[in-house]
Amino acid sequence: MKIHWFRFLIVSVSVCIMACTNINEQVYNQGINIIPKPQNITEQEGSFVLDKTTAVKLQSSDIKSVADYFLRKIQLSTGIELLRDNAEKMLVLQVDSTLPLNLEGYELMVRPDTITVIGKTPQGLFYGMQTLMQLLPAEIESSQKVCGAKWIIPCVSVVDEPAFPYRGMHMDACRHFTPVDFIKKQLDVMAMFKINRFHWHLTEDQLWTPEIKKYPRLTEVGSVRYNQDGSVATAGFYTQEEMREVVAYAAERFITIVPEVEMPGHALAALAAYPELSCTGGPFHTRPVWGIEPELFCAGKEGTFHFLEDVIDEILDIFPGEYIHIGGDECPMVRWEQCPLCQQRMKEEGLRNETELHGWFLRRMENYIRSKGRKIIGWDEILDGGASSTAAVMSWRGDVGGIKAANSSHHVIMTPGQYCYLDYRQGGRTVEPLSMGPCTTLEKIYSFNPIPESIEASQRHFVLGAQVNVWREYIFTTDHMEYMIYPRALALAELTWTPTEQKDFPDFVRRVNNAYVRLDEHHINYHIPLPEGPVGNEMEFVDTVSVAFFNTRNYPMYYTVNGNNPTIKSTLYQNPLFLDKTTTIKIITVLPSGKISQIRTVNYVKTDYAPAYQGNTQPGIWMRHVDGLFSNSAAYKNVQFSEPKVIPCFTPVDLNKLDDYKTPWVEIYEGYFEVPEDAVYAFAVNSEELWVDGKLILDYNNKVARNLTTVVTKALAKGKHRFQLNKNNSIKQGFPDTWRETTFYIQSPDDDFLVAVKESQLSH
Ligand code: ACM
Ligand code: ZN
Repeated sequence: MKIHWFRFLIVSVSVCIMACTNINEQVYNQGINIIPKPQNITEQEGSFVLDKTTAVKLQSSDIKSVADYFLRKIQLSTGIELLRDNAEKMLVLQVDSTLPLNLEGYELMVRPDTITVIGKTPQGLFYGMQTLMQLLPAEIESSQKVCGAKWIIPCVSVVDEPAFPYRGMHMDACRHFTPVDFIKKQLDVMAMFKINRFHWHLTEDQLWTPEIKKYPRLTEVGSVRYNQDGSVATAGFYTQEEMREVVAYAAERFITIVPEVEMPGHALAALAAYPELSCTGGPFHTRPVWGIEPELFCAGKEGTFHFLEDVIDEILDIFPGEYIHIGGDECPMVRWEQCPLCQQRMKEEGLRNETELHGWFLRRMENYIRSKGRKIIGWDEILDGGASSTAAVMSWRGDVGGIKAANSSHHVIMTPGQYCYLDYRQGGRTVEPLSMGPCTTLEKIYSFNPIPESIEASQRHFVLGAQVNVWREYIFTTDHMEYMIYPRALALAELTWTPTEQKDFPDFVRRVNNAYVRLDEHHINYHIPLPEGPVGNEMEFVDTVSVAFFNTRNYPMYYTVNGNNPTIKSTLYQNPLFLDKTTTIKIITVLPSGKISQIRTVNYVKTDYAPAYQGNTQPGIWMRHVDGLFSNSAAYKNVQFSEPKVIPCFTPVDLNKLDDYKTPWVEIYEGYFEVPEDAVYAFAVNSEELWVDGKLILDYNNKVARNLTTVVTKALAKGKHRFQLNKNNSIKQGFPDTWRETTFYIQSPDDDFLVAVKESQLSH
């Protein structure tokens, strides 16, 4: 018994010593680290030490829940249960509706013996308390007692309020189902950074997620997405009880939920359940691929509107917020053009075209929602067919829609793709995972100003704020979701709270280093900039090569060339590495907290230029085709393809054939490509396999998607080289090969952009 006890003591002491590396001394805890940066903050001499002699005093009973929220958190990390009596040191909380601030504003005074937090409203008080938490060491966010720490708060005066009332984060629950516990975890973090809107994208072509009691088939049929081979790709829905629970959880954190029910497009999951609501009558199944679906709700049938009104009734009952989002984006009009009932409706309503029918559809739904005392938001397409003036517009196709909307007196939320879409990668294509598209670094999103110059000064107040969007086509796991969200959501928090002229990116990055530790305490899998430089991880060179690395935020990097995994004790990267023999470089980025990035491993292989083909060739390339579903290249190895046929170039993919995915096939292209000089060339491909000079150099077999994230280089002599490209149009995780144009990409490794191989370079 005694021995056990003794052993226990040793274990606890050693855990404590490990945890007790003096947090007060840590570089990330130095200075003032509040995100979003307060509008007015003055530092003063001295500090307040939070300890067990501190008492808390509430000036009114209506703020008890706000106080309890923070006292609970403080007790978890500090072990201090604040006294409720008067004491020498006081934390005084109050609400004063006469403060000359907007409704979310607050004042905070820290003096050596008293902290006073005054909110204009309970919400303002909540934000004042979040600011106070951020004046404490980052470990205050721990859910376990942090031993040995001193909880010191520097003396300051803060007077603060947000620049914009709408500071939003969107999440796509439908491309991959997003569970309730994960959402609650994000709400905790959003609240820390004063983000106050959660846009819950509940319905899609791929999944219908809200339980609607009147229409049980919506979730029975519409909440499963299948792979092409019949296996389940993703599934899930929210019961009404769960949604109410999330609403309450968000409300405790002063976050309003904006639920989105998409119409008239992005609705195939609903149509799979109730095909009679479509123009053609179906049958349908939930969409197995990403992209834009041609089936819409039929605008000619009254039944469509009865259904949607019933759905909205249940949604309004669950979600008490002012706004309901009704989508409106990405509606091809082909079904409406072909539908007698839709055409009849256009005649009756005097609508000149289907775009006006789209406008009419959404105005009709808006009228219904307004009759229930609520307002709508729609994506900026709602402007195309004439939105009513009371509709708010979410500008996603750049800022053009937002400018137009604000100038014509619509309320606007800015969420332009190139700044605010968190499904875009946040570093180089080779180091970052597969993503929706272009690069949006932390710096880029931070630079976004929600009020473009071209909104007239008198109309600028129509911009309610901005939002980041987390679409999940390419985000398969919730860990990956956090990787995409953080730290970029913190930039959104600051650009919507702090006036543009007060933003300061280098100082923001310094504060993010502190926020990272807070995120660690919430077990958030945030992004750490990766070592970039080499365009790929499988690199060839001839003679010698100089290899330079960088990362998007200039954090220190450490590397090895002996095969060992690097640590902060490895060599600090300072200058480009000079290689004259085959070498494997392993390199990491290190944050001020000591946390390291994933290891990047780059193989540099010393070689000669591969000789060019010396025979004659003719224009065009060989193509062989076979219809069928093949899960990988082994599955079509022994099947009978069509006779090879010479075609001028790769078969173009008709992006207008929106349901091409319904007929899977494989094509194999063969021939020669020509390069202009002896050089090292980089290759990428959006297909299953690429072979060069008889070697398989790019292989996406069994990967979830064909992508352009993997680049390899080959040293090639001037002239023609043999290639084979395998294109497999089976669907894996919603991503068929036909997604982008068929080709392979070839470039000099020094170029930034991948360039498609040209028809003039090809022969057979
Ligand atoms: C959208 O990204 N389709 C709004
Ligand atoms: Zn119709």
